[in-house]
Amino acid sequence: MDQLSQLREPPGPGPEEALAVAQEFMADPVSYFAKMVATHGSVFKMPLGPVETVFLNDAETAEKVLRLDFAAFGMSQQSEGAMRPLLGRSMPVVADHRYWEELHAIIMPMFTPAMLRRYFEQTVKTVAEEVEHLGHFAESGATVPLLNFVRQGIFTALARTLFVRGVETDDVPTLLGWFEKSNDYMSARYLQGEAADTDPSPQIVAGREALGEINAYVYRLIAYRRANLVDEPEDMLDVLLAARKSDASPLDDEEIRDNVVALFFGGQETTPSVITWAFGLLSANSEKRERVLEEVDRVLEGRAPTFQDLAKLEYTEMVLDEALRLYPPFSFVGREALEDVELGGYLVRKGTPIGFVGWTIHRDPRQWPDPESFEPERHVRALKATRGKCAFVAFGYGQRKCTGERVGRMEGLLMLAMISQRYLLDRKGGGLSGHQVINSIKPSDGLPVHVRART
Ligand code: HEM
Repeated sequence: MDQLSQLREPPGPGPEEALAVAQEFMADPVSYFAKMVATHGSVFKMPLGPVETVFLNDAETAEKVLRLDFAAFGMSQQSEGAMRPLLGRSMPVVADHRYWEELHAIIMPMFTPAMLRRYFEQTVKTVAEEVEHLGHFAESGATVPLLNFVRQGIFTALARTLFVRGVETDDVPTLLGWFEKSNDYMSARYLQGEAADTDPSPQIVAGREALGEINAYVYRLIAYRRANLVDEPEDMLDVLLAARKSDASPLDDEEIRDNVVALFFGGQETTPSVITWAFGLLSANSEKRERVLEEVDRVLEGRAPTFQDLAKLEYTEMVLDEALRLYPPFSFVGREALEDVELGGYLVRKGTPIGFVGWTIHRDPRQWPDPESFEPERHVRALKATRGKCAFVAFGYGQRKCTGERVGRMEGLLMLAMISQRYLLDRKGGGLSGHQVINSIKPSDGLPVHVRART
C-alpha cells in the first residue's frame, strides 16, 4: 500500500479537457488511442463521459488485468449502466460477479459440440444462399456493398441459431434496421448518461423508439416460444428457456430478453466486420488471396464444407486471425479496478474504469513486427507460442473471454471459404478502405466490391 501511494497517476488530459477529448475521440477513437500512446506511452487516462478512464495499450498490462491479477479487476459498473437500455444485465456487461457466474453456467450449454454442429448446419445453409445471391451480382456487374451484404447473411445465420423457430428470414432487415437506429441513442448514453433518455434530438428519439421495437419483438418471441416448448433444445433460446438458476428458479422474461439481445448484438456487430475486412485485405493482397484459393480448392474439392473441414482450412483461419489483429471489432473492452492497483508503473485508484485497446495492443511492434502489414503467416502455431498471452485480445482473455468465439470463427471460415470457392471480390477502385467506428471498427466505405465468377 505504501509503495502504491508513492506512484503517480497515469498521464493524459484532465476533466477540464473533456469536451475537446469527446469530440476528437468520437470522430475516430482508435486513431485517438494511437495518438495518445505516441504522446504518453502505453498507459494513460482520459475523460470519457462523466468519469476518467485508464486505457491499457500493451500486452503486459493487459495480461496483468485479465490473467495475473484478475481478482483485483471486475467488469465496469459504469459500462453496465451506460449499456443498460440495450444490453440490460446480460452476460457481456453484468458487473455483479455472482450473477455473471449464474448466467455463465446457463449460457455455456449453448456452445457444446452438439449445439455447434446444429449451428454449423444452419450456417452452411445460410451462406450457400448468400453465395447464390452473389451470383446475380456477378452476372449483372453491379457493385455489392460488402459489409451490408455480409451483415445480412451473418444476422440471418445467427437468427437461425438463436431461434430455429419463430423468426422469419423476412424479419432480418427490419431487425437489423432497428439495431442500426439504436446506435445514436446508445452512443449518447455513453457520453451523457441518463440525460440521453430524455434528449429530444430526432435521431436519439428514433434510437429510443427502435429499441422499443426490438424489445416488443423479442418479448413476443419469448411468449410464443414459452407456449411452444420442446423437449430437446434446438437453439439458443431453447437453452435459455430450459435453464434453472442455482436456486432452481427459471430466468424471467426480462433476463431472457437481455441475453437474447446481447447475443444478437454481440454476434452481428463483430463477425460481419471481421469477414468484410478479411475480404478487403485479400482484395488488396492478391498473393495471399491465391493461397486461400489454393487451400479452399484443395480441402473442399468443389463440394460444400463439412464440420471436419473447418480444422483443415488453416491458412483461411490465419487470414481471419490477421483481420482480427488489424481490425479487432471493439475499439476497447472495459473493466474496473476493484482496489487501488499499480498498472504500468502508475497508481490506478479503486473504482476507476479501465479499457484495454485491441487496436494498439495489436500494433505493438515488439510483439508484431511491421504491424501495419497484412501477414497471415504470423499466426502459425510456432510463432503464436513466442508472443505474450495477451498480445492478441480480439476475443478478450481469461474468465470473461468471448463465449461465442467458436461460433464467430465458424461463421467467418464458412463465409470466406464458400464465397472464395466460387467468386473473387475486388474492391471498387482497388486499395484498402479506411476505418470508422460505429459500435465496431468497420470499413468507412462499407467495402463496395465487384464480383467475378472464378473460371
Ligand atoms: C469475430 C467474432 C467475435 C469477436 C471478435 C468477439 C469479441 C468479444 C469480446 C472482445 C468480448 C469481451 C471479452 C472480455 O470482456 O474480456 C466478447 C464477449 C462475449 N461475446 Fe463475443 N465476439 C465475437 C462473436 C461472438 C458471437 C458470435 C457470440 C454469440 C453468438 C458472442 C458472444 C459473446 C458473449 C456472450 C460475451 C460475454 C462473455 C462474458 O462476459 O463472459 N461473441 N466477445
